[in-house]
Amino acid sequence: MTEDPRALLRADDLRLAFGSTPALDGASVAVERGEIVALMGPSGSGKSTLLHCLAGVLRPDHGEVWWEGRRLDTLPERRRSAIRLERFGFVFQFGDLVPELTLRENILLPLRLLRAPRADFQRADDLLDRLELVEVASRRAAEVSGGQAQRAAVARALVHRPGVVFADEPTGALDSVTGEIVLTTLVQLARDHGSSIIIVTHDHRVAAHADREIVIRDGRTTAEVIA
Ligand SMILES: Nc1ncnc2c1ncn2[C@@H]1O[C@H](COP(=O)(O)OP(=O)(O)OP(=O)(O)O)[C@@H](O)[C@H]1O
Ligand SMILES: [Mg+2]
Repeated sequence: MTEDPRALLRADDLRLAFGSTPALDGASVAVERGEIVALMGPSGSGKSTLLHCLAGVLRPDHGEVWWEGRRLDTLPERRRSAIRLERFGFVFQFGDLVPELTLRENILLPLRLLRAPRADFQRADDLLDRLELVEVASRRAAEVSGGQAQRAAVARALVHRPGVVFADEPTGALDSVTGEIVLTTLVQLARDHGSSIIIVTHDHRVAAHADREIVIRDGRTTAEVIA
């Protein structure tokens, strides 16, 4: 059991190699409820791999991942997948909406997969409104701008009120003004719902929105900077 009741998600001494390439070599992270953490480090340092281990997508070779006081990494894939769907949200750099579906349908996807009550569907419309997407809500995802698509991805990551949002360079493909809008809304909405965010970024301006920075180098978390 985790000692700190506030630690929502915790990883201790993760190690993971892809063949002979060590991707993680002693990475440890603890994220509290509602906390916004920036994960920074050079290309190839293990940021995405660490995120995937924390989200129960990848299983580390060594170390432990704890979610809400329960061991996550040793659960069978079926259970990890159910936790991901129910309790986690994801925003990637680009291309993660279903192109044939409208923005509204994309945002509703997690609720449909979770068989959420119809009453919850109103949240999609509230998010569309909040993200200024009402006018393009019934356009297919393939037919909107990158910034509009990324705002819809933010809405989709939050519509089921997840405990944690994992964001892997969510503004990496956007210009700085659009990126700032996407990021500000992600952070505001997460704070409103009490969701934690772990955001991978190379950009110190992005990290400035976080409560704390974790730095990873050569697969090892090396320093924590209090923002
Ligand atoms: N599926 C894979 N197969 C083999 N090697 C991999 C795989 N995924 C990652 N790696 C290697 O593991 C190391 C860490 O990769 P990772 O993708 O976690 O880095 P990153 O910090 O996210 O980099 P970037 O900033 O470029 O996205 C790198 O050396 C990478 O080449
Ligand atoms: Mg990466």
